[in-house]
Amino acid sequence: MYVNGKHYYALWVDETNNAVKIVNQLKIPYEFEICEITSYLELVNAIKDMHLRGAPLIGVAGAFAVWLASLEAKKTSNPEFFLNNAYNNIVSARPTAVNLKFAASLVYNKVIQCKNSENRAEIALTTAKYFYNSEIENFKKIGENGLPLIKKLASQKNGEPVNILTHCNAGWLACGDYGTATSAIYLAHKKGIKIHVWIDETRPRLQGAKLTAWEMNNEKIPFTVIADNTGGYLMQEGMVDIVIVGADRVAANGDVANKIGTYLKALAAFNNHIPFYVALPSSTIDFGLQQGVHHIAIEKRNKNEILQIEGITKNGNVETINIMPENYSVANYAFDITPAHFVTGLITEQGIVSAKKEDIIKLYSKKAI
Ligand code: MRU
Repeated sequence: MYVNGKHYYALWVDETNNAVKIVNQLKIPYEFEICEITSYLELVNAIKDMHLRGAPLIGVAGAFAVWLASLEAKKTSNPEFFLNNAYNNIVSARPTAVNLKFAASLVYNKVIQCKNSENRAEIALTTAKYFYNSEIENFKKIGENGLPLIKKLASQKNGEPVNILTHCNAGWLACGDYGTATSAIYLAHKKGIKIHVWIDETRPRLQGAKLTAWEMNNEKIPFTVIADNTGGYLMQEGMVDIVIVGADRVAANGDVANKIGTYLKALAAFNNHIPFYVALPSSTIDFGLQQGVHHIAIEKRNKNEILQIEGITKNGNVETINIMPENYSVANYAFDITPAHFVTGLITEQGIVSAKKEDIIKLYSKKAI
């Protein structure tokens, strides 16, 4: 997508310098900073600290982390040991998004099959690049497949905008390009369909307020940031036509793990007969996991994310302040699981399917990778 008239991906490779470049998501919306990463551990730390985040982008980063590890492994006395250790570090950087394990394993399995350690980095790079490019194609297709939903709603609105509610950031920053939940939103706007986006601020890390709003602002799409608890009221009042969110992991039965608070939005949508769609590439589906609720590892993050808040002062300084005494007990669950029966449909690169086992399994056989 474009930032100040220039096209950017959220992550790209600088092959001349054997580096991965990323948009530093910790600085948005205050600053647009690019970071250069030259070791796999730095990339693992960038995933942990959320310099980059969002399930699909974490997957892509995991794939390129194996490439960096393959380069580093060449300089060690036991490359296989180094690579295996690196692989374990990479896949455990964040536990909930299945994309990380999927993409890192895809590259790692190719790499270890090659007995000549000199050629491994090249194999890793080719595989990671192929995966990233196919994911970007998938995000584009997700938008094309989701567009008819918005078009249909627009035809019922007598010229009024279609109100779309989204949670967290499932935009191009979370994916590399286009986004998942946002892909159809961008396309609808491009096609001149009148839309307005309600953006949940998404406490504690404020991915909605800081990242999704920044994306929408760049694209000049009308939006309103709301406190996380507002959605239910808006739905009751007929001010939401559709909810579209992303996903970190979808189980084979259609249960959806996504940013904490998604479940409550699904409940409110269900109660108010509002369509609740989840947009995702098939790399987000954990086909081997029969059930999501109680079975997906939910990341618990540092308590400071709840105790503190970051903002910009009148002098333009970005500062972090405590919003409650440091000794308070707080719990920071990063994700929750929406049971499949609250999900109207899954918008995938292969089309829209129901969140039911019999439909989800068909996606596996037609998966590109
Ligand atoms: O903790 P985050 O910011 O990585 O969580 C991101 C989300 O929950 C997104 O909705 C999800 O990864 C889908 S992104 C296309």
